[in-house]
Amino acid sequence: MAYKIKVDPEKCIGCDLCCSISPKSFEMQGDKAVPKREIIDELNNNEKESEESCPTQAILIEEITATDKK
Ligand code: F3S
Repeated sequence: MAYKIKVDPEKCIGCDLCCSISPKSFEMQGDKAVPKREIIDELNNNEKESEESCPTQAILIEEITATDKK
Protein backbone atom coordinates (compact mmCIF):
# COMPACT_ATOMS: atom_id res chain seq x y z
CA MET A 1 0.00 0.00 0.00
CA ALA A 2 1.30 3.43 -0.89
CA TYR A 3 0.35 6.70 0.70
CA LYS A 4 0.32 10.29 -0.38
CA ILE A 5 1.20 12.95 2.18
CA LYS A 6 0.02 16.50 1.82
CA VAL A 7 0.36 19.58 3.99
CA ASP A 8 -2.15 22.32 3.33
CA PRO A 9 -0.09 25.54 3.44
CA GLU A 10 -3.26 27.54 4.09
CA LYS A 11 -3.87 25.63 7.30
CA CYS A 12 -0.31 25.09 8.54
CA ILE A 13 0.60 27.56 11.27
CA GLY A 14 4.22 26.40 11.42
CA CYS A 15 4.04 24.92 14.89
CA ASP A 16 6.76 22.39 13.93
CA LEU A 17 5.01 19.56 15.76
CA CYS A 18 4.86 17.25 12.73
CA CYS A 19 8.60 17.71 12.15
CA SER A 20 9.29 16.84 15.80
CA ILE A 21 7.11 13.74 15.71
CA SER A 22 8.16 12.57 12.26
CA PRO A 23 11.42 14.24 11.27
CA LYS A 24 12.02 11.71 8.51
CA SER A 25 8.82 12.68 6.74
CA PHE A 26 8.31 16.39 7.38
CA GLU A 27 10.54 19.42 7.28
CA MET A 28 10.04 23.14 7.64
CA GLN A 29 10.39 25.35 4.60
CA GLY A 30 10.24 28.86 5.91
CA ASP A 31 7.29 28.96 8.27
CA LYS A 32 5.41 26.03 6.70
CA ALA A 33 5.88 22.29 6.96
CA VAL A 34 6.27 20.25 3.81
CA PRO A 35 6.46 16.51 3.33
CA LYS A 36 9.97 15.31 2.57
CA ARG A 37 8.47 12.80 0.17
CA GLU A 38 4.91 13.05 -1.07
CA ILE A 39 4.56 9.37 -1.87
CA ILE A 40 5.63 6.74 0.63
CA ASP A 41 5.24 2.98 0.60
CA GLU A 42 4.77 2.44 4.32
CA LEU A 43 3.61 4.50 7.26
CA ASN A 44 6.52 3.66 9.51
CA ASN A 45 7.86 7.02 10.64
CA ASN A 46 4.99 8.28 12.79
CA GLU A 47 3.30 9.99 9.86
CA LYS A 48 -0.15 9.09 11.15
CA GLU A 49 0.69 10.44 14.57
CA SER A 50 1.75 13.70 12.96
CA GLU A 51 -1.49 13.86 11.02
CA GLU A 52 -3.50 13.29 14.18
CA SER A 53 -1.44 15.69 16.27
CA CYS A 54 -1.45 18.67 13.92
CA PRO A 55 -3.45 21.35 15.72
CA THR A 56 -5.00 22.69 12.51
CA GLN A 57 -5.49 19.39 10.66
CA ALA A 58 -3.21 20.67 7.92
CA ILE A 59 -1.83 17.20 7.21
CA LEU A 60 -3.67 14.80 4.98
CA ILE A 61 -2.49 11.25 4.41
CA GLU A 62 -4.31 9.32 1.74
CA GLU A 63 -4.03 5.73 0.68
CA ILE A 64 -3.22 5.39 -2.96
CA THR A 65 -5.03 2.60 -4.68
CA ALA A 66 -3.68 0.79 -7.70
CA THR A 67 -6.05 2.68 -9.96
CA ASP A 68 -4.69 6.03 -8.75
CA LYS A 69 -1.15 5.06 -9.65
CA LYS A 70 -1.52 4.46 -13.35
FE1 F3S B 1 2.05 22.84 10.31
FE2 F3S B 1 0.56 21.08 11.50
FE3 F3S B 1 3.05 20.57 11.09
S1 F3S B 1 0.47 23.27 11.78
S2 F3S B 1 4.07 22.54 11.17
S3 F3S B 1 1.52 20.86 9.53
S4 F3S B 1 1.90 19.97 12.86
